[in-house]
Amino acid sequence: MEIVAQRKDKVVYRDGDKLVKLFDETYSKSDILNEAINQARVAETGLNIPRFREVTVIGGRSAIVMDYIEGKTFSDLFREYPEKIKELLQQFVSIQRDIHSRKHLLLTKYIDKLKMKILGCELDASTRYDFSMRLDAMRRHTHVLHGDFIPSNVILAGDGVPYIVDWSHASQGNATADATKTYLLLHLAGADDFAEEYADEFCRQSQGATTRAYMREWIPLIAAAQLPRASDPARRQMLLKWTEEED
Ligand SMILES: Nc1ncnc2c1ncn2[C@@H]1O[C@H](COP(=O)(O)OP(=O)(O)OP(=O)(O)O)[C@@H](O)[C@H]1O
Ligand SMILES: [Mg+2]
Repeated sequence: MEIVAQRKDKVVYRDGDKLVKLFDETYSKSDILNEAINQARVAETGLNIPRFREVTVIGGRSAIVMDYIEGKTFSDLFREYPEKIKELLQQFVSIQRDIHSRKHLLLTKYIDKLKMKILGCELDASTRYDFSMRLDAMRRHTHVLHGDFIPSNVILAGDGVPYIVDWSHASQGNATADATKTYLLLHLAGADDFAEEYADEFCRQSQGATTRAYMREWIPLIAAAQLPRASDPARRQMLLKWTEEED
């Protein structure tokens, strides 16, 4: 058994040809089952993702078991090959666009998730209402959205085939919203220059469908929805600042 990642409420480890995500008892059961069903649904779209095996109980704790993918994540690659950052970024964005080209009508609607989180956030009632109205005015789409599309969630297997992991935040909706989410996550991780290069590349590949102005419309809405789960003071500060940005 080899630990792949250790988080505050779960451990991810390799067991032979299997990858096990083992959750703490406190982890919401519905979140675990939702992650598993998202992974099963996304597999039906034909996207290249690790094969789901089972949800099970190990030592009294719930676990999701899937195939282990041998390879390097895009975060490893960006770190190891700084001279190839441009090509890697192009590939990273095109993988995200491939996700967006898929459909699965049973996935949760991103707009509904955003609304629920915005309603539960700490902003004052009139701002929450304003944000909810703005969400209603956004164009409705049904693209598959990853929701946490960051370099550590894409593995390039030994044969050069990319596998996308971590489907806990998957939904369906507007691709520009998903790109904006990635952009904010990169900034939150402190990769400011990279976030800007990423946004430029996403807009370029979208050929006008996504623009920086369109992303700016999404920023306050997506930032507000991140507030309920943000406890780190620096992180909260950034999110609050983004909720105040004018579009
Ligand atoms: N099927 C897999 N095969 C090989 N490695 C995997 C697999 N699934 C996940 N990993 C590795 O384990 C890491 C953690 O898994 P995952 O992203 O699913 O969990 P997470 O706790 O939600 O991570 P994060 O904090 O990045 O959101 C991934 O970044 C990836 O490097
Ligand atoms: Mg992850």
